[in-house]
Amino acid sequence: MQSLKAYPAMLWITVCFALLGSYQFGYHLGILNTALYWVTKDLGLDFTSQGAVVVSAVVVGAVVGSLFAGQAADSMGPKKALLINNAWLVAGTLLCAAAPGGYWGLLTGRALAGIGAGAASLYVPRYISEVAPISIRGALATLNQAFICVGILVAYLVGLPYRHNEPQTVVIASHLVSWWRIMFLFGLVPAILQAVGLLFTPESPVWLHWKGRGATARYNEYRLLGSRWQEEGEVDADEPNVEEPLQQREAAEEQSTIEGGWGALLKRRYRRIMILASALPILQQASGINTVVFYSSDVFAKAGLESPVLGSIIVGSVNVAGTMLAATLMDRAGRRQLLLTSHIVMAVCLFALAVSTYLPLSAVVEGVVSLVAVMGFVLGFSIGSGPIPWVYLPEVLPNEIKGAAAALCTSLNWLSNLIVGLTFPAMLALLHLGGAYLVYAGLNVLGAIFVAALMVETKQRSLAQIQAQLLHMD
Ligand code: GLC
Repeated sequence: MQSLKAYPAMLWITVCFALLGSYQFGYHLGILNTALYWVTKDLGLDFTSQGAVVVSAVVVGAVVGSLFAGQAADSMGPKKALLINNAWLVAGTLLCAAAPGGYWGLLTGRALAGIGAGAASLYVPRYISEVAPISIRGALATLNQAFICVGILVAYLVGLPYRHNEPQTVVIASHLVSWWRIMFLFGLVPAILQAVGLLFTPESPVWLHWKGRGATARYNEYRLLGSRWQEEGEVDADEPNVEEPLQQREAAEEQSTIEGGWGALLKRRYRRIMILASALPILQQASGINTVVFYSSDVFAKAGLESPVLGSIIVGSVNVAGTMLAATLMDRAGRRQLLLTSHIVMAVCLFALAVSTYLPLSAVVEGVVSLVAVMGFVLGFSIGSGPIPWVYLPEVLPNEIKGAAAALCTSLNWLSNLIVGLTFPAMLALLHLGGAYLVYAGLNVLGAIFVAALMVETKQRSLAQIQAQLLHMD
């Protein structure tokens, strides 16, 4: 890896402002984990039925948001699309906090925030992978997942006042306001920060080249990657990144004449790419991670843990730490090795968790075993299945189908997320915790087999090289 100081501050500033999108994605996913009970109580809703709908509304919104995001990123550029996307997030956040009319206001707010979160899940990895130098592209793209996890963790942390299972209020202008409304309002900060920050960061050079705006693209490369870009084409192997954008640019120019779109996804030449790009996001959800993200407090409560909110915070921290570890390994161990390890670790931990529920253990022991097994599971997820689909998608999709293909694959991820969220309570009722986790253990075994059999490594290779290999594999 090149010395990080070799890159201009603008690269880091750009990545940081982009990551506020990932943070918001995580925050909106995690926020109801600790607060749902109090939200439903305040608004007079049924916890089980209406609560589950409110939790899932974000995911439904995200399916829709990600479906249209590809086209938006293609036509206006990933940076501009990400900037404007904050309108959904701000509107959704305000509606959730105010919940006008109770259930329906809250539901609309969650769906709008979901549209923003879903679209951000497409824009951020795309924007980052298109501004990043090859040698640290995997690490930078992994930060996307790290910030999703930070968002989830912060959402849990701001729920800490609820740890004693008591209602919480604050006084604002002599009105008593429930704490969960303030939790939602915190969501405004990153949205506003990002919208302002992105006004000053460069648009993706890859997108600009693709649109035939070479001069602006080269200027932006210069802003992001350093002064060597002043003299076009001057290559010095000792300088960081000097070859990369050239390769990306060539690929972009070569492809810019080809018309993509939804129909193109069915072409035979893209078959291999589409199988890989759509399977990884689905496998990520089939790992069962969101049964933990959404319901860990409930699961820990059932397992007899004294402070389920604290349990969730510990698990959220493991997710952040593991993802940071993955960022350091991503460009060395490679995507394939990490993902394989990840699915195997998850399968083993879920199996252990499932078996423990069938053994005659005391409540305390069962609580501890469930916490340790869930921590191991989340660690396994965080080093591979969490970050890699988001890293991999923008790497393997060629420009001419990137918009439609990324939209399809990202929305498949959210759709699978929705299926998990909606079926998990029923699975629990039908199969109990042990049976439900056995099903997910089995799905992780399938994930490991898929990766071992079909996944192509992308570390330390330019986007053009990766795509050329995949296009010529069939
Ligand atoms: C990934 C998943 C998301 C999950 C999160 C947990 O980003 O796409 O569904 O909630 O990881 O860290």
